[in-house]
Amino acid sequence: MIIGNKPTKLQIKKIEEYIEKYIYLYPDYLQEEIKEKIYLGFTNNNDTINQIYCFLNIVDDSLNPYLFFYKTIQNRFVLENKKILEIGAGTVPILAKIIKDNCNSKITLIDPLLICELSKGLDIKKEEFNEQFNILQYDILIGYNPCRATEDLIKFSILNKKDFCVATCGCCFLPEEYVDKSSKAWHYYLIDLAKEYGQNNYEIFIDYFSTEFNIDYPIISGKYLN
Ligand SMILES: C[S@@+](CC[C@H](N)C(=O)[O-])C[C@H]1O[C@@H](n2cnc3c(N)ncnc32)[C@H](O)[C@@H]1O
Repeated sequence: MIIGNKPTKLQIKKIEEYIEKYIYLYPDYLQEEIKEKIYLGFTNNNDTINQIYCFLNIVDDSLNPYLFFYKTIQNRFVLENKKILEIGAGTVPILAKIIKDNCNSKITLIDPLLICELSKGLDIKKEEFNEQFNILQYDILIGYNPCRATEDLIKFSILNKKDFCVATCGCCFLPEEYVDKSSKAWHYYLIDLAKEYGQNNYEIFIDYFSTEFNIDYPIISGKYLN
């Protein structure tokens, strides 16, 4: 759903320049998506389009969900001098840049889709996050809509006594045995999972985006009580 205004002439020019310079770095299916949707406006659900708008600085701060998410993390955790792992960062690392610009912490990003040329100065890993990935050196694991990596982010954080904060998306990756495959059921499943795995060792927080974002999905955080 489009939640921002259509781009102005000046913004269209910036977008055109971006496309000319960088579109060849995207996989074919994302190139198609960009061509089809980039001029429609900022959305509440299309990471590829939204990341480009944020990269070009043509979205209002009040509609920038990465900024809102960053503030939510800051509200729950101290990020200063911490080692952060961002899972499912997407193609253009917007959240990591916000964190890097605002606090003195070390951030590593993991996503097979990351575009190296647009991630300069950041520690990136172009691979899938899974249980083989060593998270011991990190203090906190975060993810903005990391899709199918969401469950592992929560599980492996708790199993390794790490703090975590994840903004869930509308997709649903419930195990086969679940009859209700709605995103709502998926979110309950994730919250229950965090509470069950965290038991008495974690404080679990659920936050929500403010109404202008039109995003109903919970932000789930877990603070290790040491
Ligand atoms: C909906 S996109 C969100 C991207 C970005 N966080 C944003 O919202 O702008 C989900 C991303 O998660 C990545 N992803 C999914 N499973 C992953 C995994 N196991 N490890 C790392 N990245 C993963 C995908 O490649 C994709 O870029």
